Amino acid sequence: MKKLFFASLSAMSLFILASCGGGSNEASKPAETAAAPAKTEAAAPAAATGGAANGEEIYKKTCIACHQANGAGVPNTFPPLAKSDFIADKEKTVTQVIKGKTGELVVNGVKYNNTMPPQNLKDEEIAAVLTYVYSNFGNSGGPVTADEVKAIRAKLQ
Ligand code: HEC
Repeated sequence: MKKLFFASLSAMSLFILASCGGGSNEASKPAETAAAPAKTEAAAPAAATGGAANGEEIYKKTCIACHQANGAGVPNTFPPLAKSDFIADKEKTVTQVIKGKTGELVVNGVKYNNTMPPQNLKDEEIAAVLTYVYSNFGNSGGPVTADEVKAIRAKLQ
């Protein structure tokens, strides 16, 4: 994140320098050479971690509003992911995230009857966020791989 920010900052300063027009060659040259290595630096870690597929980040962006930071959910409204017996079934869990669900659903003996919208996430993102869920909130299980998500998605289509 910091590196990306730095890279866009350098890109921006390059743009500003370039758009000044009146700038001398001495001023624009060092900016150009400084921006180039920053770009490659930003690209490398993103590729190594699979780009945006950071489970914790995806959880905080996508699931937290309903299932809460600690995965406890909201009584009678949003079921818990923390120590949920539902997630013991990986296929059901992946399907839940891909397709969402409206209607009755039981978690740890408690009935919920609400709607979870389908989550528009890539296979790698679902794998990452569910691996995060399985390894936090007092849960065990996982990891979930992108290949597993892909295979389950294929069955749904
Ligand atoms: C808009 C609110 C909302 C969002 C966002 C949301 N969920 Fe849900 N989720 C629900 C509701 C509501 C249910 C229960 C649906 C029902 O009653 O049929 C549910 C059920 C589930 C279940 C099965 C029951 C359980 O608690 O074990 C899982 C697993 C789950 N969600 C995971 C996720 C994950 C992972 C994300 C983020 C990628 C996510 N949800 C995002 C509202 C949401």
